[in-house]
Amino acid sequence: MRKKVTTRSFQKFKETGKKITMMTAYDYSTAKLLDEAGIDSILVGDSLGNVILGYEDTIYVTMEDMIHHIRAVAKGAKNPLIIGDMPYLSYHGDVNEAVRNAGRLIQEGHAQAVKLEGGREILDVVNALVRAKIPVVGHIGLTPQSVNQMGGYLIQGKKAEDAQRLLEDAKLLDEAGVFALVIECVPKQVAEKITEEVKCPTIGIGAGNVTDGQVLVSNDAFGTYSDKSPSFVRVFGNVGEVIKNSTKSFIEAVEKGEFPNDKESFHIGEQEAEEWCKLYGEQNSNK
Ligand code: KIV
Repeated sequence: MRKKVTTRSFQKFKETGKKITMMTAYDYSTAKLLDEAGIDSILVGDSLGNVILGYEDTIYVTMEDMIHHIRAVAKGAKNPLIIGDMPYLSYHGDVNEAVRNAGRLIQEGHAQAVKLEGGREILDVVNALVRAKIPVVGHIGLTPQSVNQMGGYLIQGKKAEDAQRLLEDAKLLDEAGVFALVIECVPKQVAEKITEEVKCPTIGIGAGNVTDGQVLVSNDAFGTYSDKSPSFVRVFGNVGEVIKNSTKSFIEAVEKGEFPNDKESFHIGEQEAEEWCKLYGEQNSNK
């Protein structure tokens, strides 16, 4: 039987060089499949907003949306470490409110850790969460909740001073006690330097194969999100095509009257059928 993956396992994976595997999920059935396939960790990302709720950006996702979906994932997946994303504005104001919101993802959603976006500007929140015994994952580089401030979904850390700022942010978050760090959409050399310099494992997305692990949005990896996917995405299985073809087969079978067949239907027993015939006959003759 597979062992439950914990924050301690993450540290061990970094030490032993085992690559950490993480995918997003937002519902019970997908979480169960990812668990059965042997994934180390499931992130209930606020990418929920894009791939499940159909928003253009993640900034419209609420605490209630996150709790609702984290709870479903936690029911489906027992072995992977479940990380819940803190949505936009749930940790940007008062620090005590940030702790309460993170606590809700744990107590009401049943996440085992939370993730939040940002560098030096969120250190006070990270410190408070660590004090409250809430395991924290950092997220630097392209941080989608800052889309309007960044002026779009752009590669981060391409200029020397930006790369240096990212490295400094990574070190500050590491010292503050994050147990893992997501690095999104940065040049490979920057991700490699950060991975060498921090104690915590790094999880890359669009950051090359030099990080301690990789995360992908499952709808991108399974080809079920057809709006627009970043260039770093690989479609590992075209589930979108399978869904479309299955739907076409369903439509055809229903329209031809082939579905459901006799085996897929319920039947009344022979004796009951005879009795019912009699009853039906009597009632009709009394009319
Ligand atoms: O919300 C999300 O799915 C994420 C990943 C892209 C890392 O933050």
